[in-house]
Amino acid sequence: MISGAKNAVLPIMAATLLTSEPCIIRRVPNLSDVRFMAQILESLGATVRFDGDVLHVQAAKITGVGDYELIRKMRGSVCILGPLLGRTGKAMVSMPGGCVIGARPIDLHLKGLKALGAKISIDKGYVNAAVRKLRGAELFLGGRSGPTVLGTANVMMAAALAGGITVIESAACEPEVVDLANFLNDMGAKVCGAGSPTITITGVKKLHGAEHEVIPDRIEAATFAVAAAATGGEVTLRGARPDHLHAVLDKLKEAGVTVERSGAALNISRKGKLKPVDITTLPYSGFPTDVQAQIMVLMALTPGISIITERIFESRFMHVSELARLGADIAIEGPSAIVKGGGHLSGAPVMASDLRASAALVIAGLAARGTTEVSRVYHIDRGYENIDGKLRKLGARIERTEAP
Ligand code: EPZ
Repeated sequence: MISGAKNAVLPIMAATLLTSEPCIIRRVPNLSDVRFMAQILESLGATVRFDGDVLHVQAAKITGVGDYELIRKMRGSVCILGPLLGRTGKAMVSMPGGCVIGARPIDLHLKGLKALGAKISIDKGYVNAAVRKLRGAELFLGGRSGPTVLGTANVMMAAALAGGITVIESAACEPEVVDLANFLNDMGAKVCGAGSPTITITGVKKLHGAEHEVIPDRIEAATFAVAAAATGGEVTLRGARPDHLHAVLDKLKEAGVTVERSGAALNISRKGKLKPVDITTLPYSGFPTDVQAQIMVLMALTPGISIITERIFESRFMHVSELARLGADIAIEGPSAIVKGGGHLSGAPVMASDLRASAALVIAGLAARGTTEVSRVYHIDRGYENIDGKLRKLGARIERTEAP
């Protein structure tokens, strides 16, 4: 069963700061990033209660500025900036550092919030933002590698309580942005056009509490689909949304993988030989950068040459050197990886560097001969709920052990 989407639930949790009333969020995945965000909301004065995969949040009052260390540790928490500004007219949020996949600046977030009238300064590692009353504006939010997902989320949430109309051009179109817009509209906001490059938000005076079920995690679904193809197995992805996975399923089919729909489920199997395919990561609805590492493993197992080009993050090839330990033949040329596939992978100790790289190493380990030991799996727990348990249910020989 596919869990709720990490990249939808984090901004939706932040959006609960926009109202003093209780919110209920369903299908919340049990992930360390979700628990971090819950701690951040509590450090801002909200009450947070988990009841299985149901989350109850109420930010009756917002006190304090949010835990510096917690916010610094989890980049996704930058999306509390917009709701804090919208609700209280001020925000002090620690500047998110870069991460191994890239510099990840937030200049577009700040540009968008400034366009709504916020005064912003950066001091002692904090972003300080203040405004008497946010005012709607027309703004262009495209950057050097296209739209920004959390930047769009931040501006959309701030604009929900701004005076007047905001129009975001070159907005991100990801399903997670649409899910957030649906939650905001459940709270009484007026957001139109989410899912398209132009989003229009008509500000309202007040938002109320709401109940919402998070969309399934398309990246988790894609990861399991690639794992099935890489191991020559067969999986049924229950609860996945095929309409969120077009680019991934299209490439899997091109590579010779069988993709069948049965009702709400997706059957993924690999019967015949795999074929090399070229991949370029792009903003949605193009091929997701969050599946680049996983599909690279599949191409490393596929006879022939494939070229994988990363267009979103400038240094998202940390998994290449670890895959080489397993015997993969991959050369980096600027933004592209040239994969000479077809050889066997053989098990070895490898180290995870980031969330999606760790998923790729697990898939490689499942397809390799012998035993592979993946260390630093705390990365994988940030974004995959009980991945080893789910894989074992599918017949994988995988176990989690404490680090020595
Ligand atoms: C979201 O990150 C996801 N994270 C990422 O998933 C995902 O890889 C990314 O979108 C792209 O799809 C969450 O939703 C929590 P961006 P986000 O702003 O919003 C540049 C995972 O594995 N940029 O869309 O931070 C940026 O450097 C994670 O689950 C600016 O230049 O990504 C990047 O090159 C990893 N200035 C590009 O835009 C800005 O102000 C896209 O980044 C903002 C972004």
